[in-house]
Amino acid sequence: CGRPPNLISSKYRPPKATKTSSLIASAPAQEIPGSYGPPLLGVWADRLDYFVKQGAEEFFLSRMRRYNSTVIRVNMPPGPPLFPDSKTIMLLDQKSIRVLFDTSKVEKKDVFAGTYMPSTSFTGGFRVLPYVDPSEPKHALLKGFCFKILQSSGRKFIPEFHATFTEGASEWDAQLDATGEADFSSVSQSFTLRFLCRAMLDADPIAPGPASLGKEGPTLIQVWLAPQLAPQASLGLPKLVEAILHTVPLPFALVSRQYNKLYEFFHTNGQHLLDIAVQEFGLDRTEACHNLLFFICFNTWGGFLILLPTIFTAISSAGISLQKELAEEVRSAVGKGGEVTMKALQSMKLVHSTIYEVLRTAPPVPFQYGRVKEDMIVESHDAAYKVKKGELLGGYQKIAMKDPKVFEEPETFRPRRFMGVEGERLLQYLTWSNGPQTEDPTLGNKQCAGKDFVILVTQMLIAEFYLRYDFFELAPVEQSGGQASVTFKVLKKRS
Ligand code: HEM
Repeated sequence: CGRPPNLISSKYRPPKATKTSSLIASAPAQEIPGSYGPPLLGVWADRLDYFVKQGAEEFFLSRMRRYNSTVIRVNMPPGPPLFPDSKTIMLLDQKSIRVLFDTSKVEKKDVFAGTYMPSTSFTGGFRVLPYVDPSEPKHALLKGFCFKILQSSGRKFIPEFHATFTEGASEWDAQLDATGEADFSSVSQSFTLRFLCRAMLDADPIAPGPASLGKEGPTLIQVWLAPQLAPQASLGLPKLVEAILHTVPLPFALVSRQYNKLYEFFHTNGQHLLDIAVQEFGLDRTEACHNLLFFICFNTWGGFLILLPTIFTAISSAGISLQKELAEEVRSAVGKGGEVTMKALQSMKLVHSTIYEVLRTAPPVPFQYGRVKEDMIVESHDAAYKVKKGELLGGYQKIAMKDPKVFEEPETFRPRRFMGVEGERLLQYLTWSNGPQTEDPTLGNKQCAGKDFVILVTQMLIAEFYLRYDFFELAPVEQSGGQASVTFKVLKKRS
């Protein structure tokens, strides 16, 4: 079964007393601890620690311990000589990380991927929305277009999810009958893409027809994503190959065939949405199409690629009693009608809380960045630090959302953590979407445009699952790069 989340916070012991804000404000601001090391050598040393010797979490935790601070200077991969400057101030607690959500204090231009930005040839020559800062007029237009896509397909979400999930689950059942195992990962990748395209484009990517993707869709997307993420991700390749990928930007030409095929599909089937982009938002049709593709394939499908397996490994790690409780809650919420409705979903408090706890312990997009707009002070729980205009700030949500000063037993997966009055209070510290769960994405901020849709889809998945099955058991989970390969060895049909 799945691994319980790492015991992260217990490895970092924060100073015992927390200073109050007024004490911090009256104390002189400090220099930020940590070192970038000598030019190039420092970058190489940090890259080696990050990818080979320590891994991301221990890389930060060991430095937090060494400097007794949750705000530290490090080189973030990939770095020079072939990538831009790697110098980053990392914010690793719930107080300091919040400056990243304040677009009056940080500029979010071209920092979506981190210290580097993949060539715009990966997106048709355009800077797509996640790379655009709210101060740029394009931001509101593109984000408005993204909201409109979600809003205009809203009524299709529940029926299309039901239909595509049912097809996927039949495939799991058939695989289990034939081989004794069912591949959660590849089946869910396929039905998620079909769901998104059917709900948003009214087109099934596997159906024959103009620009059909056949069964290739998930592979085409992953091949296109890989070179954009490779400079800072572990892709599960041999260490030597990865060491090279972390130093050299890969050209778009390697994946142009795959991208062009995806573009053709979106261009052919997304005309009604592109009409809206042109008529309502005054966007260029081609630019809108590259953005549409990015929203669906990178932001949404790419996010679920990481999140959905994690939901199942986390539920599995919590034991069979959680599965029983989830099944009971889902079935009683759905009632005699037997069908998932928005009202039923809203009443599933344990399902909600379980999803929030997965997003807290294993945020699918763990890094966020922003460039300091003016010299200012950043406060952690214990100290105030000077930062200068132009410096790059980074947040690592995997540690910040396990802040022991905010979350009790932060390292433990507690599915009920976000229930009740205290649970509701804690939602302000759930920041996986580049902002608090208690706030909403707007045209003026950089919070994830799909924040509520992400919760809705994961709720529908859990609800549909426990309407069909009593419980599941997983084979040992294989990790490849950042992705978990999840396989069912038992899927007990609803009794
Ligand atoms: C931005 C996470 C799904 C659209 C972001 C950011 C995060 C995030 C952390 C902020 C990035 C940054 O500023 O550094 C996720 C996760 C998802 C997910 C974990 C799924 C598991 C979606 C969906 C959509 C979406 C379903 C909807 C189409 C966007 C857009 C932005 C964004 C357009 C840029 C917002 C802006 O520029 O103001 N997402 N996201 N995401 N996300 Fe999501």
